[in-house]
Amino acid sequence: MLKIKNLVKKYGDFIAINGISLELNEGITGILGANGAGKSTLLNLITDNIKRTSGEILYNGTDILSLGAGYRKKVGYTPQLQGMYEDFTAGQFMRYIGALKGMKHSVCKQETGELLEVVGLKNYASKKLGSFSGGMRQRVLLAAAMLDDPEILILDEPTAGLDPEERIRLRNHIAEIAKNRIVILATHIVSDIESVAEKVILMKKGEIIKYASPRELIDEIRDKLDKEYVTLEDVYLYYSEH
Ligand SMILES: Nc1ncnc2c1ncn2[C@@H]1O[C@H](COP(=O)(O)OP(=O)(O)O)[C@@H](O)[C@H]1O
Ligand SMILES: [Mg+2]
Repeated sequence: MLKIKNLVKKYGDFIAINGISLELNEGITGILGANGAGKSTLLNLITDNIKRTSGEILYNGTDILSLGAGYRKKVGYTPQLQGMYEDFTAGQFMRYIGALKGMKHSVCKQETGELLEVVGLKNYASKKLGSFSGGMRQRVLLAAAMLDDPEILILDEPTAGLDPEERIRLRNHIAEIAKNRIVILATHIVSDIESVAEKVILMKKGEIIKYASPRELIDEIRDKLDKEYVTLEDVYLYYSEH
């Protein structure tokens, strides 16, 4: 379990994360928020990519700062900006990430084959990333993040720039992969998490304004809206305006 206590991140005088506390368990947690809400900053703090200003992030009871490399090894992460290596083949890219994770070559090779198959790219291992569509790139990133079987999987805007069909496809892969691990998916697109997230965090200006299941969130605003059929989209719109 990941437990976050009074987390604060300032960039200079600007408070990007303003005292967040929460507990994250296995399954998919979606972080929904407008651009600038602080989603990427929160994920970068959880992955230990940037320094927090204050507060605690505990993994199974120990601060991730004391866990250090042992913790980072358990985390798979797809960053928001995809710095892809156009001349790498998908297989080379996977082996490169595997090496960064300190995996044994033979294990990495085996997992690469399995994971590329899971994301529907079995026959593309020797094709260059430069020739891939946006959806294929995101699927390679997802496969790479899954190397070494991470206990925590962090996905920052994984469907950015994808067409609807690719978006659905990626969402299904994520749902399949999510079992038995903590998955945190940040997005500003409600449909990315609507049917797959067990819990949703609504973020606004560096704060968590809601943390509940999609069903609870929908039930909560049903009375406030004069509408027959309320969706998570309505919840998101309601809280962006209130
Ligand atoms: N390295 C940085 N230096 C200064 N401000 C930053 C930096 N990174 C992000 N911010 C600011 O922090 C806020 C939250 O950004 P971010 O976490 O990227 O939000 P989101 O991912 O929800 O769009 C924004 O106002 C952004 O401009
Ligand atoms: Mg972001």
